[in-house]
Amino acid sequence: MDIILQPAHTIRGEVRLPGDKSIAHRALILGAIARGDHTIEGLPGSEDIRSTVSCLERLGARIETRPGGLVRVRPGTYPSRAPLFAGNSGTTARLLAGLAAGRPAEVTIDGDDSLRRRPMERVADPLRRMGASITTAAGGTLPMTVRGGSLRAVTYRPTVPSAQVKTAVLIAGLFADGDTMVEEPLPTRDHTERLLRAMGAPIRAAEGVVALRGPVELRGVGVTIPGDVSSAAFFAAAAACLPDSEVVLRGVGVNPTRTGFLDTLSRMGARIDRENETRHLEEPAADIIARHADLRGISVSPEEVPGLIDELPLLAVVATQAEGETVLRGARELRVKESDRIDAVVANLSRLGARVEALDDGFVIRGPCRLRGARVFSFGDHRIAMAMAVAALLAKGETVIEGSETAAVSYPGFFDDLRKLLG
Ligand code: S3P
Repeated sequence: MDIILQPAHTIRGEVRLPGDKSIAHRALILGAIARGDHTIEGLPGSEDIRSTVSCLERLGARIETRPGGLVRVRPGTYPSRAPLFAGNSGTTARLLAGLAAGRPAEVTIDGDDSLRRRPMERVADPLRRMGASITTAAGGTLPMTVRGGSLRAVTYRPTVPSAQVKTAVLIAGLFADGDTMVEEPLPTRDHTERLLRAMGAPIRAAEGVVALRGPVELRGVGVTIPGDVSSAAFFAAAAACLPDSEVVLRGVGVNPTRTGFLDTLSRMGARIDRENETRHLEEPAADIIARHADLRGISVSPEEVPGLIDELPLLAVVATQAEGETVLRGARELRVKESDRIDAVVANLSRLGARVEALDDGFVIRGPCRLRGARVFSFGDHRIAMAMAVAALLAKGETVIEGSETAAVSYPGFFDDLRKLLG
């Protein structure tokens, strides 16, 4: 579906973001293997989360939504065989591979065309070392069949920094005897560690190593999911770039492993403040206030990449408005996301008239630049569609985003909320 967007002068107002997608996947999956009452408040209605819900139901879990939106998750009878369809969601496929590895059953995981192009050996390899038998399609992709049960604890060092790989290994570790350890090449989002701890797991994290002593029986908890900072990022970016703007983003998760983009925006000169900080089960949240300022280009180093991995296409858009050069390195992972996000961003921003160059592992952007409206493409990637919506606001003339419906993968109400803020 095409969406047509006009340039904006300013963006103002407040919005409450849908629940954090990363936390939601974990709250559902861990709840499906926990004893006792497990409830989730603020579960987002995004397509990726619906994929996790339907896969867990196939694995026997009972997931009920109560009036008022409270979701209750209960384990059920685990089948001996199950085909799972993870849709567009890499997190669903990879985390459920970890769960399947722990159970004596045969589970086949598949996904849509985009997910079928993404690497799965990064989870298959450690899970095999733990004792699961796993096959992937040619090229190490989906469909992937996992035959699990009787796991042993291992120490694993992922070849790329990845919270999904870390989480898959830790979930499998819940079923293994002894210390399962993940040595992270760089720190990645730690929602799994926080939630596992809250659910009673003996888990330690220090100096780049996460250790879990299994086997573990998790106990259910009441999870309240904060707003998704990766969704809030689009409005914060628009406010930073458009004169006289001020947006208030209510109840956003501000776990420090996820706020890299907000920190980077501040470093570029944007005015980003926090108010009303709260905390639920170890996850901090706050209202974020983002205001316009003159921006300057920056360098983002490889060490910073995991903290803003999902926001890097959006950073490219902001960089077109900043004085000087913005250089990103060490982000080769962008090439294996829902699309090749380096090529997607460079192709789209070039069409809009930006000065942008692709690197193997990042990009260079020279700003400031007045973008010109054009036809751009989502490449079937939700974050590219939403980043291009922000670019469209900054451009002169009309912009058409082809395939804009893909925003629903993480943020079904994105274009409605955007219209509301644009008045
Ligand atoms: C996620 C981890 C990141 C991120 C993805 C969600 C998670 O992926 O890009 O959107 O919830 O664990 P990687 O683990 O592949 O870096």
